[in-house]
Amino acid sequence: MSSNGSDDYDKGGLIAFVLSVGFCLLFFVYIGFFHPGVDLKELPKSGAAIVQTAATVAPGDADISSITEPWEPNPKMVEHGHYVYENTCAMCHGPKGMGDGPAGQGLNPRPRNFVEGKWKTKGDSIALFKVLQNGLPPSAMPAWKQLPVKDRWALVQFIRSITHNKVPDDPKKLEEFAKTAD
Ligand code: HEC
Repeated sequence: MSSNGSDDYDKGGLIAFVLSVGFCLLFFVYIGFFHPGVDLKELPKSGAAIVQTAATVAPGDADISSITEPWEPNPKMVEHGHYVYENTCAMCHGPKGMGDGPAGQGLNPRPRNFVEGKWKTKGDSIALFKVLQNGLPPSAMPAWKQLPVKDRWALVQFIRSITHNKVPDDPKKLEEFAKTAD
């Protein structure tokens, strides 16, 4: 039993212990005094950005079965139009309607940029619907008569919801036209 027993114990263990306590202290000092922190005000913003991205990537569909006048402005029609658009038009007109879809890159004329809205036709709802009935020959823009009439009105409403050039409709003429259009 030596009174110097303390000289014999494992110094390596002590060093490891002191180092880890030291590291923890440094860590807390860093978090407490130097780390810039997270601004809670920014959280809702980035949350909204995530929701928005999700909406662009995979828009949900809306039930339009109860809508009887599909040419009349209605957010459900816009949502359904967005859904149909993703599946039938985005490859040419681009995911956000900027005319930059992969299948439209080599076309001349290029697919229309809907956001910009430089329409070749009059550009009101009737004119856009007619483009979906007949296409725009001789360009690559096909006719879409195979789509149900309601889907075509939904597409017209979706395009009008994103364009900066929303040509005003004459509601009476629109209704007259729409009641016979197929
Ligand atoms: C194969 C590629 C292609 C697809 C798919 C396509 N388009 Fe187009 N679209 C075009 C091109 C090209 C033009 C430009 C034609 C021109 O300038 O003469 C155009 C033009 C248009 C215009 C402009 C009308 C105007 O007055 O200027 C509208 C509206 C339109 N497309 C709607 C649609 C909708 C809605 C769909 C999906 C149902 C669709 N397009 C799918 C190629 C396409």
